[in-house]
Amino acid sequence: MANSIRRFEGRVAIVTGAAQGIGAAIARRLASEGATVFAADINEAGAEAMAKAAGGGIVPVGCDVGEPDSVAALHARVLKEAGKIDVLVNNAAIVPFTPWDEVDFAHWRRIMRVNLDGVFLMCRASSDAMRKAGYGRIVNIISNTILAGTPNMAAYVAAKGGVFGFTRALATELGQYRITVNGVSPGLTASEGVMASPHKEAFGFVEMLQAIKGHGRPEDIVPAVAFLASEEAHWITGQMINADAGMVRW
Ligand SMILES: NC(=O)c1ccc[n+]([C@@H]2O[C@H](COP(=O)([O-])OP(=O)(O)OC[C@H]3O[C@@H](n4cnc5c(N)ncnc54)[C@H](O)[C@@H]3O)[C@@H](O)[C@H]2O)c1
Repeated sequence: MANSIRRFEGRVAIVTGAAQGIGAAIARRLASEGATVFAADINEAGAEAMAKAAGGGIVPVGCDVGEPDSVAALHARVLKEAGKIDVLVNNAAIVPFTPWDEVDFAHWRRIMRVNLDGVFLMCRASSDAMRKAGYGRIVNIISNTILAGTPNMAAYVAAKGGVFGFTRALATELGQYRITVNGVSPGLTASEGVMASPHKEAFGFVEMLQAIKGHGRPEDIVPAVAFLASEEAHWITGQMINADAGMVRW
């Protein structure tokens, strides 16, 4: 789909977890503004279907972000086919609904492997490519649960808190290469994942806390991501924007 705003003409982007939900909406927007978007997802068939429906500009790739060899293969392919990486959006995550009494070490590791280790592996590989070009935009999708103390998500909140700290640290490491690293924290959003889980029951409660009323949709998260991924956001790094209708103010 074409867009009259073309901030990503000639740019190459990777969006992880882009088969559905917020990641798919981000991939569609970047592509509609001119980017070549590699939509990386462990659900390869889902990424293929999303790319086909988007009608151009999106290359689906099967990738498990928690697996070093898979991340290496993704980067080798992107660099071979597109020659560079301008934008990385770390969106892939497991969004669990797990009461504390069910949180054992296996669950903890399962969440950390994807939601925290995955962000590290992707940043490690992409930033090495971005450094060579002296340009890069990394946007990490965090969550306002790190500020709200949301129940039934202890391992998830810990991992996302890790991503928040890592975002700030990596901004310092990569500033000298003109690479920015920022975060966007969605509030409760009606993605496919959320609508298939008990989280969907929380929309009424969350809406009560929001300054702006309504139920968040994936498209509501996209503008903050696209801005931070754009060239003009060059003077902003190590920051986090809450995209949650003003639920959490800090
Ligand atoms: N939806 C919300 O309410 C909400 C709120 C705050 C933050 N977030 C964050 O937004 C992002 C997207 O959430 P969503 O609700 O759209 O999720 P979703 O569950 O609908 O989609 C997640 C996607 O990530 C993919 N994925 C999972 N594990 C993967 C792996 N190992 N490697 C590659 N891909 C993998 C899935 O296949 C899926 O396509 C996540 O980082 C999530 O933590 C979501």
